[in-house]
Amino acid sequence: MKRPIAHIAGTGRYAPAQVLTNQDWEARLDTSDQWIRDRSGIAERRVADDRETIAYMASEASKPALAEAGLTPADVDAIVLATASWDRLLPSQACDVQAVLGAKNAAAFDVGAACSGFLYATNVAEGLIATAQAETVLVIGAERLTRIMDWEDRSTAILFGDGVGVAVLRPAPGDGRGILSTYMKSDGTLGDLLYRPGGGTVAPPSEQLLADRSQYIRMAGREVFKSAVRSMADACDHALQRAGLSGDDVDLLIPHQANIRIIEATAKHASIPMSKVYVNVDRYGNTSAASIPIALDEGIREGRITAGMMILLVAFGGGFTWASAAVRW
Ligand code: UT7
Repeated sequence: MKRPIAHIAGTGRYAPAQVLTNQDWEARLDTSDQWIRDRSGIAERRVADDRETIAYMASEASKPALAEAGLTPADVDAIVLATASWDRLLPSQACDVQAVLGAKNAAAFDVGAACSGFLYATNVAEGLIATAQAETVLVIGAERLTRIMDWEDRSTAILFGDGVGVAVLRPAPGDGRGILSTYMKSDGTLGDLLYRPGGGTVAPPSEQLLADRSQYIRMAGREVFKSAVRSMADACDHALQRAGLSGDDVDLLIPHQANIRIIEATAKHASIPMSKVYVNVDRYGNTSAASIPIALDEGIREGRITAGMMILLVAFGGGFTWASAAVRW
């Protein structure tokens, strides 16, 4: 496949205003600011209110992204949305975003790959553009994890936050800018290390489910951590190798923001100094599929990402899934 086929023509993000700090968690659970910072690098995270559904937040984040690309909702040919925390189970989250945004000419569907979802969705969007099925694709990573986490479980609750990031994919301009390589991989045998046991058709809602709290995320943190370090390294290697690049060529690494220690291990593996790594896990916690597009949009608005830079995006998540992309900005 001749690349680049697609490029990112606009980005946007939405972060709920409500901030939940580590001190707030100290008041609720047997935990400490020190423990959370030392083990995860997180200081605070955002929490959506009742009005801030994914459909609402994603629609709000899409507007500036489309405006930056010089487009309107009516120009969108496809919405590919990644989430693990749908507003409702049917129809797809993407269709609910389409309705709120008024993107009436689009095909809309979801991609499920947990924290790797945004990069999986980007890959699908590139394919739609490559096969001339779409010219303008809204790629959305959106999460409201505070509604699917167990607020009484200190081993998971302190990690997660809410938010949305959006990228508008368009055919590459032909000057070398755009997506140079992508990579996706999964290992479904490890699914039970990070999952929601109840609420699906195997274990539908019941009194027992509520008593067990099995509608919430469960995670074997230490095992997930080890796999994350291995998979992020593998994802770095593949995106770089497929683009014919090395770590030295990377101007900015944007890793999935789950844990500062995983981020540091990934950067070290790829021989990328931390000065060239975008970090906002301290301010947002883990926003799963939203973490990379939120960081991407922040990096652009802050002027850390400028034309011609080589950006490496790397993610890992439940499934397990992992993915990466090298992008000439
Ligand atoms: O988004 C992609 C998927 N998710 C991830 O990538 C997350 C990957 N995992 C992690 O980031 C880390 O495993 C955590 C941050 C979740 C945990 O850090 P850890 O260094 O792996 O700690 P641990 O789970 O091994 O727990 C160490 C101790 C335990 O006590 P004992 O058994 O040593 O006495 C826990 O009970 O820390 C205890 N602990 C806590 N203590 C204070 C667990 N949670 C907390 C807490 N506050 N919130």
